[in-house]
Amino acid sequence: MDKQHNKRIYLMSCIAAIAGLLFGFDTGVISGAILFINQAFHLSHLQTEIVISSVLLGAVLGASLSGRLCDIIGRKKIILITSLIFCIGTLICACAMTVSHLITGRVILGTAIGIASFTAPLYLAELAPKNKRGYLVSLNQLAITAGILLSYVVDYYFTASGGWRWMLLFGLAPSVLLLIGALLLPESPRFLMLKGRIKEAKAILQTLRPSHEVDTEMEAILSCNSPHTTYWQEIFNNRHVRNIVMVGCLLAIIQQITGINTIIYYAPTIFKLAGFQTDSAVLMTAIVGLANFLFTIIALPLIDKLGRRKLLIMGLTGMLMSLMMIGFAFHQTELSSSLRYLTVISMILYIACFAVGLGPITFVLLSEIFPLKIRGLAMSMSLAANWLSNLVVALTFLTLIDVVGTGDTFYLYALINIFSLFFVFSFIPETKGCSLEHIEKRLYAGCPPRELGQEDPLEPAVYEGERHVVRK
Ligand code: BGC
Repeated sequence: MDKQHNKRIYLMSCIAAIAGLLFGFDTGVISGAILFINQAFHLSHLQTEIVISSVLLGAVLGASLSGRLCDIIGRKKIILITSLIFCIGTLICACAMTVSHLITGRVILGTAIGIASFTAPLYLAELAPKNKRGYLVSLNQLAITAGILLSYVVDYYFTASGGWRWMLLFGLAPSVLLLIGALLLPESPRFLMLKGRIKEAKAILQTLRPSHEVDTEMEAILSCNSPHTTYWQEIFNNRHVRNIVMVGCLLAIIQQITGINTIIYYAPTIFKLAGFQTDSAVLMTAIVGLANFLFTIIALPLIDKLGRRKLLIMGLTGMLMSLMMIGFAFHQTELSSSLRYLTVISMILYIACFAVGLGPITFVLLSEIFPLKIRGLAMSMSLAANWLSNLVVALTFLTLIDVVGTGDTFYLYALINIFSLFFVFSFIPETKGCSLEHIEKRLYAGCPPRELGQEDPLEPAVYEGERHVVRK
């Protein structure tokens, strides 16, 4: 890759990643704003829960309804439409005069978040050259963590004045930026080829790759297009495709049920349960947000170097250890100040391990493992499962603490981490450095999910530096 193509790819990737920033901002901002919304509208507990989780409900809807749309009208147009929905949702929330206005605005925002959560990584993966795909797709996760951090800072800034409308309205700036940026994005060449628009695809690929790579990549993409079945037939009638869709959905669920959003959404509550005052709890939360962002930066270059599996396994092991430590601390009858700090250290360790493992790698793998034809649909199914499990965790965490106690709640999440490690060992492929088409060919040749990224001994793949040619 020469400098000029590199620059263009990075610019396009950064624009698409603004969708991730909005995802992070709009899920994070409510944690501070809700304190003042409560005062303004005198919300009951139930109404508070509904205001908080309505965004997750919208995200389930957005992720599940728009997957096919992405395959029909294209990735670029969907990003454009999403940015408009972000603008509308933000304005309705910030100007809300009643709780129902607010809930409506949050559902609309959630819908945009749900769509963005799969469109951005999908688009990034399809634009990226194979040796940088892990890095570029993970820019989306970096943007999510930056959005969460930004929301904590904005909340903190407007806390003195109690300006919850300003907190929410701040999201308009990145929404407008995405709207303008999306106009500059090229359509995904893989989407265009799926639609038979070969000339347009080639013209775009020429702006993204050095000329000697364009034809090889076009041939590889073309050799994978199979227009003879419908999307659902492809998923339900083909055992291999069905299996990989199941693996993708399970991975997406694991990203949530290993407990990340108990920390992201409830960190101040956990710190207060550990005995910290409100102001220190808010400060610790900001530190957790910062750790999430910084460790995601560390993870980016490692994903294409160390590979997806290694990082996932290391990350999950660290998350398991920290959950055990939090569980242990909360099992002591009284939290001495050293035990209190153990919870802080464990939570930072937990978030760091998520940030180098399950955080970015879930999206990277989901954008890689599905065949082109059903990629949009399968990703949206996985992301809908991801948001649904997010909703379940968010709605049950406080009840779990009431019913089984804080210590056992974290032990329960530790147990789920053990099952998740087993799942990753057995089913997750190493896709580092493979072209998307190589993964697809191996899938259709009947390779089990775990082996999708390996070289095929039956149909040897020849790698010539950057280029990948399949011998018949
Ligand atoms: C997850 C979100 C989570 C965020 C934290 C994302 O990968 O999907 O649910 O809040 O990471 O960084």
